[in-house]
Amino acid sequence: MARETWATRLGFILAAVGSAVGLGNIWRFPWQTAENGGSAFLVVYLAIVLLVGVPGLLGEFVIGRRSKKSPVGALRELSGSKKWGYVGAFSVITGISLLSFYSVVGGWILRYLLESGASVVGGNPAYFTNPGQYFGGVSAGADAALYHLLFLGLTALIVFAGVRKGIELGTKVMMPAILVLLVALAGWAATQPNAAAGYAFFLRFDPSVLSENFFAILGPAAGQALFTLSLGAGTMITYSSYLDEDRSLPFDGAAIAVLNTSVGVITGLVVFPLLFSQGINPTETGTGPGALFVGLAGAFSQLPAGTLIATAFFGVVTLAALSSSISMLEIPVAFLVDEYDISRKQAVVGTTGFVAVTGTVCAFNPAIFGFVAGTLVNILLTAGLAAFLLFVGWVMGREALDEFTTGAGSFGRALGTPWLLSVGVVLPLFLVFTLLTHFGVDGTIGFWPTVGVSVLASAAAFLGLRRPTSVV
Ligand code: TRP
Repeated sequence: MARETWATRLGFILAAVGSAVGLGNIWRFPWQTAENGGSAFLVVYLAIVLLVGVPGLLGEFVIGRRSKKSPVGALRELSGSKKWGYVGAFSVITGISLLSFYSVVGGWILRYLLESGASVVGGNPAYFTNPGQYFGGVSAGADAALYHLLFLGLTALIVFAGVRKGIELGTKVMMPAILVLLVALAGWAATQPNAAAGYAFFLRFDPSVLSENFFAILGPAAGQALFTLSLGAGTMITYSSYLDEDRSLPFDGAAIAVLNTSVGVITGLVVFPLLFSQGINPTETGTGPGALFVGLAGAFSQLPAGTLIATAFFGVVTLAALSSSISMLEIPVAFLVDEYDISRKQAVVGTTGFVAVTGTVCAFNPAIFGFVAGTLVNILLTAGLAAFLLFVGWVMGREALDEFTTGAGSFGRALGTPWLLSVGVVLPLFLVFTLLTHFGVDGTIGFWPTVGVSVLASAAAFLGLRRPTSVV
């Protein structure tokens, strides 16, 4: 059977933006910003998106469009070595791990949406009375598992419908809806009392916070940048493997990064004014994944027309979460379809069944949930992207440059060589360093020794990869 492709270039861009825009922007970004010093974090994060995120994204695109395969087949065929196929197989594990916790959070949100929607006609959603207690009750256990299954079911339906009729069509509807609703919410938030304090917290740049905390901010900002652009899991390899026209990859990558970042920033313009208008200071509400839910739910309950606003807000979040979860499920599905020649239907049923179980484990056990959502995913994404980029720089080399420049304008073509240098050398070094900090190495041996170890480890990788495993 012929491999599926996107119907239009816009369809590809929107699907990739849909993958990028998700809980990472709406739930994780404000929470990370609040925890890491407000605008100082924003600045570092933007810089990393530009310097690491966009080149990294293009690295995945180059692998995908060149091979027209999902990560396993892509790395195996482009290298001519089975070993690289095993490296690609990690993306299947990463995709399943991601979806296992993401679907639980998606379930929480779906529940808040249904709860808020049902109260628009009258009454108040149950979480208005005591947001903290309510969240505590529904975030783990049978309730959480049930809504996780519901959310996963929706995800499976879209992926089952296929690349064009499911993912492309779905994101074409969801992305504009998200943007319109978010901008409307931001406009409304601006009219709330004390909104200015929220803007100040989010946007007023204080260089001293940055210089004092730079190294502390670096790790979380890098993690957030990878997560929000869906890098390191092979999602972007898979999506770009469905491209059948050679348009400009640098242009598409930049457009995706700009749209994704805009959604993150606009979300900040909704969330922070709302919190501050209710006298909630996000740095004081305690940290952790539930903090924002509790804080925002508290704000909604105080606001005029709070139920309606809450419905619109959780509607946005649900759509954003869905357009991302489909990109996670598509990784194992594309792998099974490509490698084992089974039908999309069988692949979707099989993987969904599997994640139904792993997600239920996360839903019942907050410790496992925390481990998967935090440490495990951080490590898998960072290591995954490092491996992909080493592959682009040292195994594909010239071939990567060729693919990068195909379809690019003269400006894009001029960026080719600096891009290859950055993905081959600078980014792997940075990612190896980040990986070591995820393992807490910097805490044990100190900052500069960790830098030293990163340089040595990267140099070893470069030397090892210098001779391609086979001549292609
Ligand atoms: N980018 C999405 C978000 O911000 C999450 C996501 C989807 C993702 N697919 C991914 C993250 C692949 C890493 C890898 O919510």
